[in-house]
Amino acid sequence: MQERKPDVIDDLWYKNTIIYNCDVRTYLDSNGDGIGDFRGLKRRLDYLSGLGIGALWLMPFYASPDRDDGYDITDYYAVDPKYGTLGDFVEFTNAAKQRGIRVIADLVVNHTSDQHPWFKEARSSKDSVYRDWYVWSKKRPKDWNKGMVFPGVQKSTWTRDPQSGEWYFHRFYDFQPDLNTANPAVQAEIRRIIGFWLQLGVSGFRMDAVPFVIGAKGANVQPHEQYDMLRDLRAFLSWRSEDAILLAEANVKPATNFQYFGEAGERMQMMFNFQVNQHLFYALAAADAPALAAAMESTKARPQSAQWGLFLRNNDELDLGRLTKDQQAKVFAEFGPDKHMQLYDRGIRRRLPPMLKGDQRRLRLAISLLFTLPGTPVLRYGDELGMGDDLSLTERMAIRTPMQWSKEPHAGFSKATGKLAVPVIDEGPYGFQHINAADQRRDPESLLNWTERIIRMRKECPEIGWGDFRILPTGNQAVLAVRYEWRNNAVIIVSNLAGEPAEVTLRVPENCLTNLLSYDHSEGKSHKISMEPYGYHWYRAGGLDYLLNRREY
Ligand code: GLC
Ligand code: CA
Repeated sequence: MQERKPDVIDDLWYKNTIIYNCDVRTYLDSNGDGIGDFRGLKRRLDYLSGLGIGALWLMPFYASPDRDDGYDITDYYAVDPKYGTLGDFVEFTNAAKQRGIRVIADLVVNHTSDQHPWFKEARSSKDSVYRDWYVWSKKRPKDWNKGMVFPGVQKSTWTRDPQSGEWYFHRFYDFQPDLNTANPAVQAEIRRIIGFWLQLGVSGFRMDAVPFVIGAKGANVQPHEQYDMLRDLRAFLSWRSEDAILLAEANVKPATNFQYFGEAGERMQMMFNFQVNQHLFYALAAADAPALAAAMESTKARPQSAQWGLFLRNNDELDLGRLTKDQQAKVFAEFGPDKHMQLYDRGIRRRLPPMLKGDQRRLRLAISLLFTLPGTPVLRYGDELGMGDDLSLTERMAIRTPMQWSKEPHAGFSKATGKLAVPVIDEGPYGFQHINAADQRRDPESLLNWTERIIRMRKECPEIGWGDFRILPTGNQAVLAVRYEWRNNAVIIVSNLAGEPAEVTLRVPENCLTNLLSYDHSEGKSHKISMEPYGYHWYRAGGLDYLLNRREY
């Protein structure tokens, strides 16, 4: 493999950490009102620290009428009172810091709630200073019913405001008017929001809907991206807090990745890898390793300081929009065959374990892939327990149910006597009676304890987070083998995507292979490997004492 330039800075924390995504609302309710809160989340920091995570990405916790689960904000400078106070927030970030856990907040600045005082002002008069903070059209634009993000649910992208008689633009639901992000006053406000939360202890932001934030907005506009805005936000962020990051939600084609990262890494430090995510699900459905390898290759090039965020399932539907029709059909048939499991004509609104029909081997293979594909893994709360979904809830709420802590009422999530705002899953194989943290922590073979061990091992493999990768030939369509190298060390990950056993031969320049998850160790340059159905093997190329012998780390 080609020798790569040594890293100028070799302690970028986001390169080799584990990110955990949760929603304060559904994690732990400390006061029995049925809604999770910051005091509750703070109590669970020891659990999270035990799991081994390095950063916590929180879904929006700002003041909101909650018509889009907090993604419709009425005050960017406030914690919604149902979750606590700013004081509780600072106590929480401080407690996280003491455990070495960083906090990443969701930055939702493509739009506000229609209840935000800025929008109320803007619609009250065409002379309002806030008028130009939003996007208006005197007449109904020609493309008023084009470009919806939630097709099937959302009917248009322009809605008439009865108060001013004009039409306002909303890429998302009609109660989420788009901010006019080209307006310098809006840009200054976004910087103020960033500065505010940095001051309160966050280490960065997951930036919501980035392509829309920087896209051209307005009636009959030519498509155009304001990429410079990303550089400006990043410059401001790094000036205020040297090690804070921006993690972009940008489901874009690989050809534009460098626009988001910046040629020299001067824009967003991280982006979610939607290309790999979608092809990973296709590869799992069809046992097609080359399809996944191709997605990895197409997103391989990136600035040295940049990093991919990898995920299996997130807070939204599994979006399959970048797959071919045939590939989509395969994934739907395998993982979400019924109409009520599907959403927005392009995705699946289920959690991972039910998609995999509860097959523990396949589930562990999928999580092993999450931890061993190129980038930094982003785990979603409850994945460490194998939590399921509740398809009786609307749209994406199906996968946003409360964390299942124990067999106590409301899964130990809340001591509320009445109903919860979001119900816990309390029936079927994924009910909290069967799936909960208290039981799993007592069982050494549980998914929870397995995940904890795999996280420990992943952190000991900085080659994956920092290094270069190469796909190794296996001669078997269902088996993916990836070799990572960094600073004269190498790990090789072999994954069998199929439900049948497989035999493959691997050649390595080193003289031995050591399995990191079992006792096998074999000498030589050519290795015959027997893979179990849905098997995953993590090897280090080199001797048993790899930890001691490892150079330059
Ligand atoms: C992002 C979020 C999604 C939200 C939308 C609008 O796609 O992940 O949950 O509804 O943005 O803010
Ligand atoms: Ca509460």
